[in-house]
Amino acid sequence: VPYLRCLADRKGLLIGTAVNDWALRSGDAPYQQILQKQFNVVVAENACKWGSLRPSRSVFDFTDADRIQQLAEDNKQKFRGHCLVWHNWNGNPEWLNRFHGSAQEKQALLEEHIGTVVRHFGGKIFAWDVVNEALEDQQPAPSCPALRKSIWSDIPDFIDLAFRRAHEAAPPSTQLFYNDYNVASCRGWSKPKADAMLHLVRGMLERGVPIHGVGFQLHTNTHANTSMLMDGIRENVRRYADLGIVVHMTEVDVPGGQWDHGKFHPLPADKWTDADRATQADIYGELLKICVEEPNVKAFLSWGFTDKYTWLPEDCPLPWDRQYGEKPAVKAMRRAL
Ligand code: XIL
Repeated sequence: VPYLRCLADRKGLLIGTAVNDWALRSGDAPYQQILQKQFNVVVAENACKWGSLRPSRSVFDFTDADRIQQLAEDNKQKFRGHCLVWHNWNGNPEWLNRFHGSAQEKQALLEEHIGTVVRHFGGKIFAWDVVNEALEDQQPAPSCPALRKSIWSDIPDFIDLAFRRAHEAAPPSTQLFYNDYNVASCRGWSKPKADAMLHLVRGMLERGVPIHGVGFQLHTNTHANTSMLMDGIRENVRRYADLGIVVHMTEVDVPGGQWDHGKFHPLPADKWTDADRATQADIYGELLKICVEEPNVKAFLSWGFTDKYTWLPEDCPLPWDRQYGEKPAVKAMRRAL
């Protein structure tokens, strides 16, 4: 049976996964084997975030990030950078969450971070998620994108600024991405936020801001309306093609649980039926098929690959199970390639 990366190589496509620092350090042999054999691109699940790189305001610690980067290099895999600017309290260190400086001080801090981190990796990172999840979930007027309130949002034009600083610090070939969730499909419930992201990117291009790609996170679930989702993604991908913008599917996972009135109800391992597994497989396969068929979609990464290490531990979102058995999703991915 061919490895996914061999099939993807032939299509000129990147196929990959987020790497979990903890799984790596625990010396889990099957984890390392599948990681090495199946994928040609990886991203650090947490190791390149502020929370890992910045133990304190004056200290940068690249130990975990460098370990993952080195492993990727040894495995002849590309390394995606995730992420330079994020509002999230879990991803940011305590001292930053407590930081109450002025907008000018925050700007200086952000510029220092971007410059130092981007220069540290240089050409070892081929694509950076420069800004992650800056859009508000509700978009009353998508043609005028609403940004979420965060530690960074009082810095004037912080998104443009972040991309400009990243571009100055990176080798010219480095691709710079804006990454977000609920933005992949421009049909149905996700349309307003998807449209807002398109407007955001179009505005950046008009202002001459160096942006090359968008990341669709694609944390979805088995209850997604698959055909509407896929049609909406294709349509959206083509809107970005018209702008000359590349798309990466950056954080795909397909849990069995579902949202109901703002609350997520997980589907634990013993509750999955063959039909659930088939639906999950179908979604992985169909997403990958879009990557194969749409010329401006260049990468597909799932947010981990085994249910043993996932940020959604209860509901089995990944293609390999906890014992590293292949679920139907792996076969569907092979078929799509
Ligand atoms: C998640 C990690 O998987 C968790 O381990 C961590 O505690 C929080 O962040 N969107 C993103 C990712 O862009 O960085 C998030 O990763 C998942 C949602």
